[in-house]
Amino acid sequence: MYRLAFIGFGVVGQGLAEILLEKKNVLKDCYGFEYLVVAVSDFNKGSAYSPDGLDLSTLLELAKQNKISEYPGARTGLDALNTIKETNADIVLEATYTDIETGEPAYSHFKAALESGKHLVTTNKGPTTLFFRELSDLAAKKDVRFLFEGTVLSGTPALNLCHLCLAGNDVTEIRGILNGTTNFILTNMEKGKSYEEALKEAQELGYAEAKPDADVEGWDALAKVVILAKSVMGADIGVGDVDRSGITGIKLQDIEQAKKEGKRWKLIGKVTKEGGSVRASVRPEKVELTDPLASVGGATNALTFVTDLMGEVTIVGAGAGKKETGFSLLSDLLSIHRMS
Ligand SMILES: NC(=O)c1ccc[n+]([C@@H]2O[C@H](COP(=O)([O-])OP(=O)(O)OC[C@H]3O[C@@H](n4cnc5c(N)ncnc54)[C@H](OP(=O)(O)O)[C@@H]3O)[C@@H](O)[C@H]2O)c1
Repeated sequence: MYRLAFIGFGVVGQGLAEILLEKKNVLKDCYGFEYLVVAVSDFNKGSAYSPDGLDLSTLLELAKQNKISEYPGARTGLDALNTIKETNADIVLEATYTDIETGEPAYSHFKAALESGKHLVTTNKGPTTLFFRELSDLAAKKDVRFLFEGTVLSGTPALNLCHLCLAGNDVTEIRGILNGTTNFILTNMEKGKSYEEALKEAQELGYAEAKPDADVEGWDALAKVVILAKSVMGADIGVGDVDRSGITGIKLQDIEQAKKEGKRWKLIGKVTKEGGSVRASVRPEKVELTDPLASVGGATNALTFVTDLMGEVTIVGAGAGKKETGFSLLSDLLSIHRMS
């Protein structure tokens, strides 16, 4: 029986909670996975802790009204760090917001979880990108798992595909569409819309933020490229080593010109291993229509792995979403269970 603590109970945290509720019996009967949610700590929604377990339906109801701290009979008022340190959880699920410059507050949550000997499962790109080596070493020292499938392509198996299914291959290049918002914009520009019109539609549909820089300037894709380089290729590269440009300079004329050449613009994140070094980039590229990446439209993501034994393997799937990213946490929970 695994005791779980949620740190951050927004879209992703609640996505996992709903899956855990819906699949409780399947998880037990098919995989022998049993869980108890002992704690939740969220900035505005409140916090609750009960060493004997909390009822997930009640938690989800209370979260809607920002009233988790009114959970009957539970200990309340614990902030994220105290929840990590003081509760009897053995797995911490970290899904607070991403800060790609400092990694905080998640970086402190990550360290506290690992230092207190708890497994850490996360969808948060901030600390995973910035402090990957330190956190991996700490997890190894404490003999616990640090898993982060959801940081790249949400629940579409990108990292687990490499670590499990493609194990034994030498992966020499990974390239693909790592950001759904920019792919949605470029796909709409293919239909004749200007960059500004396509961005506005992405914002209206909730794909893009009011301040869209993290997506359109390539920062979000860059974080994922760094995570792939470090975790799949063992590369020692940082944010500043990635050659990055976004899609803001692409005009309708560029889209039309590419069409004439039998190509399509995509924002491509790429990591390439050459000799002893690894190069990484995020930039708009004209992709041949015969490339599987060219046919991936809308907010969908895709990655092609170039390997020595399997040639090119391409995966296509969601890069975001409540259920999809909630599932990424479940897939890591099941990995911990398999490894135990
Ligand atoms: N949504 C996706 O499709 C997706 C996909 C891949 C990765 N991710 C990553 O997953 C993480 C969670 O995303 P999300 O969509 O669930 O975001 P979200 O809905 O904004 O949820 C984040 C939650 O964390 C809480 N929080 C922030 N700081 C906290 C702190 N110091 N202590 C406790 N709780 C804190 C927030 O509290 P309040 O809002 O109540 O203040 C919020 O409820 C992010 O790092 C995101 O980049 C998301």
